[in-house]
Amino acid sequence: MKPITVVSPANIAFIKYWGQRDSKQILPYNDSFSMNLSQCVTTVEMVLSDDPKMQQMEIKLWNESAYRKASESQLKSVEVCYQRVRNYLKTTNQFGFHMRSSNRFPMKAGIASSASFFSALTLALVTAFDAQLDTKELSILARLSGSGSACRSIPDGFVWWYAGKDSKSSYAESIAPPDFWDLVDLVLILNTQQKHVGSSEGHQGADSSPYFEARQTALQSTMTNIKEAFLQKDFTRFGTLLEQEAINFSSILMTQQPPLFYWSDKTIMCMKEVLELRRKGIEAYFTIDAGENLHVICQNKDAELLKKHFENMLEVQTVITNEPCAGAHLV
Ligand code: PMV
Repeated sequence: MKPITVVSPANIAFIKYWGQRDSKQILPYNDSFSMNLSQCVTTVEMVLSDDPKMQQMEIKLWNESAYRKASESQLKSVEVCYQRVRNYLKTTNQFGFHMRSSNRFPMKAGIASSASFFSALTLALVTAFDAQLDTKELSILARLSGSGSACRSIPDGFVWWYAGKDSKSSYAESIAPPDFWDLVDLVLILNTQQKHVGSSEGHQGADSSPYFEARQTALQSTMTNIKEAFLQKDFTRFGTLLEQEAINFSSILMTQQPPLFYWSDKTIMCMKEVLELRRKGIEAYFTIDAGENLHVICQNKDAELLKKHFENMLEVQTVITNEPCAGAHLV
């Protein structure tokens, strides 16, 4: 049988999702807003079998040339997704699979590798069940995978995830196509080791931070302002807001119980470098996920210069240059 191949990007959130008001339905407290990352993609290849008992999975990590057998827990998470998609589609069809997943960027290092993987997996499974779902429904299914931000990797370009009132109204949609604005996200790879505490666990502690409510209140105006700045392509206003949001979000992580410290000395040095570059007139802003590696958001005209600049820093292993791109798609 012909394999089903899906490519899906990770995404970087300008407004973050942190904390779940419903951890079963993966419902966030607030809307979030992101950009798909052209060079941080996962490819999932699935060959179907008539034998439903056949469930095999291999993974190829960043910078590795060969596939290796997936762990029990990785295979289990695929099995859970398979059953969820089956139930959602209300189908009695069954199939086995041999699956291969490869990543073009470090996994579990705060670059949303679970978002790219689970969005790709969701589209591959829906295709395997021969179902047609629109982007909204696909994003809902991707959200339910456990990695909520996977829903933002389904639509194209710049994506808004509506927190919604319930599962049906919590979905992601594109608010602008990839070519709307030539923004670049330079991912500074500082450490490729996998983080100790994953996001699913981290979300559970979010509302224990004494600053959680304050962030939620402030986000209401930040959302309106950032959307306005984005639509007007006002880079200074947009960048200022997204950097402030990254710091506010990180403050929640550091003050929740138990606290999560993902930043390292390298992260802080690179953040300071971004501020220094701005003082010198080169406009860039940083943002960061639940991880050590820093994202530098700039305009395309400055990307090459900034890439070279950061590559020359001892703290930086490598720089991945990302442009806005399409969401999960079959190839
Ligand atoms: O997608 P999850 O459930 O693994 O959560 C990740 C959330 C952050 O990446 C830390 C922030 C975001 O909005 O992308």
